[in-house]
Amino acid sequence: MLYLDNAATSWPKPPGVAEAMVHFLNEVGANPGRSGHRLSVEASRIVYAAREAVAELFHAPDPLRVTFGASVTEALNLALCGLLRPGDHAITSSMEHNSMMRPLRALERAGVELTVVPCSPEGTLDSADVGAAVRPNSVLIALNHASNVVGTLLPVAEVGRIARQHDLLLLVDAAQTGGAYPVDVQADAIDLLAFTGHKSLYGPMGTGGLIVGERLDGARMEPLVRGGTGSRSEYEEQPSFLPDIYEGGTPNAVGLAGLEAGLRWVLDRGVAAIRAHERGLTARLIEGLANIPGVTVHGTHDARRQTATVSFSVAGVQPSEVGLRLDEEHDLMCRVGLHCAPAAHKTMGTFPQGTVRFGFGAWNTPAEVEAALDAVEALAREGR
Ligand SMILES: Cc1ncc(COP(=O)(O)O)c(C=O)c1O
Repeated sequence: MLYLDNAATSWPKPPGVAEAMVHFLNEVGANPGRSGHRLSVEASRIVYAAREAVAELFHAPDPLRVTFGASVTEALNLALCGLLRPGDHAITSSMEHNSMMRPLRALERAGVELTVVPCSPEGTLDSADVGAAVRPNSVLIALNHASNVVGTLLPVAEVGRIARQHDLLLLVDAAQTGGAYPVDVQADAIDLLAFTGHKSLYGPMGTGGLIVGERLDGARMEPLVRGGTGSRSEYEEQPSFLPDIYEGGTPNAVGLAGLEAGLRWVLDRGVAAIRAHERGLTARLIEGLANIPGVTVHGTHDARRQTATVSFSVAGVQPSEVGLRLDEEHDLMCRVGLHCAPAAHKTMGTFPQGTVRFGFGAWNTPAEVEAALDAVEALAREGR
């Protein structure tokens, strides 16, 4: 089987991930940070180890600035809903996933002003356009680091400098880059970094979170969920310190045990090595697809300017049919359609039909790229 749906979720997981989860369930089991007995202490240690691994990967100044939640979607909702008030202005791009767009549109209905800066049909963003969108009431710039549709990287470091010049906060959705492309929250002036555990961090679903930078100190961001934290139990108010302020309720400690194992695997292998491997596969896929008559590759056509996610269309065959036939006739798993990002497809000119999307992970091989190209060639030939 050829699994090329890593942009949706990575699979298989590295050795050690399932084992860490089974170990937690069978040998630890207790609620972290709640009780004083040794199993609870061990559970807390495991959750803290996951915090340390996230901080190491993204260069966060302190593991306690890593807050965990169920997903990057939840993390984006926390940041957007926690920060933006009626009358505030926020800036985003036209390449965003609905995890960003839907909370922003809901906030817009509640009185937040929103500017969606248009990107090029290749998915690139001119940071000068972001600077030009700043208003006196601007509070936040919120962007994905790379498009989940075409993989195009957005200039977050340049936008980070613009945000600092105007004293704005920068929120980055690193769902598509975390673990697959270098991300440094300090060097890139990222105030809030939303991450997901189940893609290129190689952890399980149900894990993710938000790294909260020092410019957020002073409780400007309200929690999304309030509840028990195991700390300050004598008070009926949510604790004001990190990470407890944003972590009401028992965490997914089983998932975090698996996430830590996935992260250790990424850190051992090295993001630079993973990136180099995936960039090589991506360059060959783009080149091969571009040479198939009837196939249109979307995006920059430049593996250096994108992640290992490639979108394309086949003349005469709907994306849904391509996906079905790749699965049934070629044993190839990919994703087709709008990929939860209608704004990106409107930007690229592929709305409403969408595209076929291949996403590589660290496991994929050059031989699999050739097999994928052969499969697309066969379909395209029949479509002509
Ligand atoms: C750029 C981007 N943002 C957000 C998400 C949402 O991720 P999750 O469903 O894990 O919260 C995805 C997942 O596809 C994504 O690619």
